[in-house]
Formats: sequence, C-alpha cells, structure tokens
Amino acid sequence: MPLHVIILGSAAGGGYPQWNCNTALSRLYWTSKNPALARTQSSVAVSSDGRSWVILNASPDIRQQILATSELHPDASGPLRTSPIAAVVLTNGDVDHIAGLLSLRERHVFSLYAAQPVLASLEANSIFNVLDPSVVTREALPLDNDFEVCGLTCRAFAVPGKVPLYAEGKSKSLALASRDGDTIGLCIHAPGSGQLCYIPGCTLIDDALIAEIGQANLLLFDGTVLTDTEMIDAGVGQKTGRRMGHVPILGEGGSLHAFDGAPISRKFYIHINTTNPILDEGSDASRAVREAGWGIAYDGMRLTL
Ligand code: MLT
Ligand code: MN
Repeated sequence: MPLHVIILGSAAGGGYPQWNCNTALSRLYWTSKNPALARTQSSVAVSSDGRSWVILNASPDIRQQILATSELHPDASGPLRTSPIAAVVLTNGDVDHIAGLLSLRERHVFSLYAAQPVLASLEANSIFNVLDPSVVTREALPLDNDFEVCGLTCRAFAVPGKVPLYAEGKSKSLALASRDGDTIGLCIHAPGSGQLCYIPGCTLIDDALIAEIGQANLLLFDGTVLTDTEMIDAGVGQKTGRRMGHVPILGEGGSLHAFDGAPISRKFYIHINTTNPILDEGSDASRAVREAGWGIAYDGMRLTL
C-alpha cells in the first residue's frame, strides 16, 4: 500500500506572514502583488488508504487546513458527526503543535498519541479537557518501538530538543539539546511503502540522529531558520535558532549538508519561520538550498511513497 502525505502547514509558529510582522519577508507579503506563498502552521496528514488520516501535530490553523484539504472533509453520506481524522500524533508540546487540539472538540472519536512529557503537559493544562477522555483517548508513545496507527507503522524517537517556551521557567537549568522525549521525530510507513521521517524541531544533528533516519525515502526536516542569528539580525528576536530549539540550515553543524552521506531519497524543509529567506522562491537562499538537494515544503503539497 502507498503512504499518502499531505503538507497541511509548512510554516513555523505564527505562520507566514506572522500577523504582526513587518520584517522584509512579511512586508513582501503585505505589499507585493506577487508575494511569497502564505503558509499555515506546522502540520502533516498521512494515510495508507486515503480514507482514514493521521494528523501529525495539531496546528492552531487546523480548521483552515481542513477546509483547504478535501481528503479531510466529512463524508457527505456519513453519519451526522464524522471526520476522516482518526488519530493525532504530537512531536512536542509547542503551541503551534497542540493548540489545534482545542478545535477538534466536537465529540469526534479519535486517538491522541504523544510522548510522556507532552501528555503530562496536556494533563497539567485543564483547557485540554475539552477533549473528553471518554471520546479522545490519550496514549503514550513508546519511544524506539514500532506502534500501529490506522494501518501505519510508526516509530517515535527522541531528538535533541527542549521543553516548550511556555514551560521554560519551570526547569531551573534549561537543557537545549536533551533527548528526554520533549521533542521527538517520527518514521512512518504503510505496508510495503517507502518511509517518511518527520522532524519539525531539532536542535542538533548528530550521528545517532542520522542513523535513525538514514534510510528515509522522504525526510521532512526542521527548516525554521537559515542562519542561527536570523531573528536577531532581522531585529525581531533576541534568541538564536538553537536557543529556540532549531538547528540552522547554514553554518557549522547546519542541516544543509548534514545528511549528504545518508541514502535519503528526498528531503524537504518544513516548519519554516517567517524570517527565513527560503520562503521567497526567487531568493539566493532558496536557490542555494534547492541546489544542495533540498525541496521547500508548501501548504497543500502532496507526496506518495
Ligand atoms: C518553536 O518551534 O520554537 C515554537 O513553536 C515557538 C513558539 O512557541 O512560538
Ligand atoms: Mn514550532
């Protein structure tokens, strides 16, 4: 069976353009007759049969994403409450990956999977009780072991990352590249299909990570920032990319050439921040990234493995 992949949202938190942003790229969107493509926040849909879909991360834009994606519309001949969405799998507890859960609250039965620290965070925030546990079951993802969801075989593995921004104050010393399950990657395949690896957040690329995903037929990887100091240089932030939990594309240890030695068939950047010049197809940065063998994901992109 094939694995169907739909990019629902290809931007990082806040989307592109961000609602209150006036940096060069956002201004291009607000003012140009031919702007870069708008992008919604980080989410992917996968399915083996094209009928039941698993959503990887529930973005604040999920309603807009469902409206834009006919595969996710209710079957017109189905019951009064119905949806092709059968499960949601979270890769971390960041706002751009969990806020959409609040929009999935109309008593639709689905399964919610996340690593233990993310489930604990949802548990601690009672607003998520709008997803009645008798309707939406929450299941802890086993790390490094295969699990089945909707006919797909998934493997979750910890990647170097940090706790969500809103939880940073709670831990005395902030580990930026811990592997304790706050941030995970997912490898997914259908019976007989190629393998998708999805890692929208990752602070560091090391040999262990490359070994985890080296066989991927399709890699969707953290493309938040082009350079580590991008937000600072743009004048809209004080933090480096790594401090925010994201390895830059360029520079020492950057992602651009990190996977060159691995037999990965196709690589795309995803979770792209509003400041990242690769959003502008005509930019030198976009060209350089594409010449180095990467694609740049966009909303509505469909791939079959
Ligand atoms: C991130 O990916 O770093 C977060 O989504 C940032 C945020 O919380 O907006
Ligand atoms: Mn994010």
